[in-house]
Amino acid sequence: MPTSRSAMITGVTGQDGSYLAELLLSKGYQVHGMVRRSSAFNTSRIDHLHMGGKANPNFFLHYGDLADAGSLRDILDLAQPDEIYNLGGQSHVRVSFDQPEYTMEVNGTAVLRFLEALRFHLKHGGKAARFYQAGSSEMFGRAKPPQNEGTRFEPRSPYAVAKVAAHHEVVNYRESYGLFLCNGILFNHESPRRGENFVTRKITRAAARIKLGLEHRLTLGNLEPRRDWGFAGDYVEAMWRMLQQEEPDDYVIATGVSNSIRGFLDLAFATVGLDWHEFVDTDPRFLRPSEVDDIEGDASKARDLLGWKPTMDFASLVEMMVEADLELARTEIRTEG
Ligand code: NAP
Ligand code: GDD
Repeated sequence: MPTSRSAMITGVTGQDGSYLAELLLSKGYQVHGMVRRSSAFNTSRIDHLHMGGKANPNFFLHYGDLADAGSLRDILDLAQPDEIYNLGGQSHVRVSFDQPEYTMEVNGTAVLRFLEALRFHLKHGGKAARFYQAGSSEMFGRAKPPQNEGTRFEPRSPYAVAKVAAHHEVVNYRESYGLFLCNGILFNHESPRRGENFVTRKITRAAARIKLGLEHRLTLGNLEPRRDWGFAGDYVEAMWRMLQQEEPDDYVIATGVSNSIRGFLDLAFATVGLDWHEFVDTDPRFLRPSEVDDIEGDASKARDLLGWKPTMDFASLVEMMVEADLELARTEIRTEG
């Protein structure tokens, strides 16, 4: 049985899961990550934590899936976590229009499944665990900015509808059973570990590769929407702070500054000394049946109660991502000789 504090993370192989695992390990936690079975290796973001000479002895991986109640119960039983971070899910909004039922299954129904697994765990003598649910600014949909905890949800995608369902499940279980459950309502957060089919990484990767001659064009969808983009490393700190409070609650996490896709393009291509207008095409296949046009968060509750504020501004974030993608592209060129 663990003696230090123990945490369970679903979605540990994702962008946020990898930063959160690093944060918790640095605080001395024993970290149990749930990994879903894949036909190809899916652990590249966390390999530095569990492989080779630098493997962290407090880091454990377990196969499981949010669609599988048995695996959730087993990991709870084995890990006896003090804190649970539910970051797993189908995280791509555009894809949720292609896979609406699956998205509801793993982003919505799975949260109910997890909460029931937690109740089962407690009934059978398991340790009481605090629970973080990865909610999203997408839930606000077309509600006017700035959005905060009191703003009405007006979801615009199967992804957002599923996240709204999960949000209410968490509130309902908190009120019904007195469990320590928190919803984080996080606005877009990015990093060099961002998936390559989200717009920020798609742009920074293309800017770097076009600069170094590995690619020539970039094709995008709608360039007008505005997003409130922050750094993922800052946002996992907020998740942890939520679970350290005396009472469970829900918090918006955002920078309070929004920019359009055009604004992101301006900065990313300027970082490599290019004008994006010469390289970018648009294609309707990247459009969404319904779009979220403008989101900008008001995180004053998190600032006042959690003492949280972002450390990285928009320009530094874009520059960091472009520099990281330049380094990856240079490595590719060196490797290919
Ligand atoms: P991500 O990089 O796409 O990671 C998603 C994680 O979920 C991956 O580890 C993935 O595993 C796992 N996963 C997918 N389906 C699963 C299933 N059926 N069972 C178990 N695990 C499953 O996403 P992220 O950016 O880190 O976001 C983390 C969470 O925060 C997501 O729930 C997302 O919806 C939410 N969120 C993100 C943002 C943001 O801007 N990043 C903002 C608000 C909310 P594989 O590696 O095998 O694919
Ligand atoms: N992905 C993508 N690809 N988006 C594009 C493209 C493109 O080629 N061209 C334009 N966009 C626009 C989308 O239409 C959207 O308005 C905006 O860029 C951002 O898209 P994404 O980067 O895919 O992120 P998202 O805002 O839809 O969703 C992300 O943030 C949410 C928080 O608000 C994801 O991380 C979600 O999981 C998260 O909940």
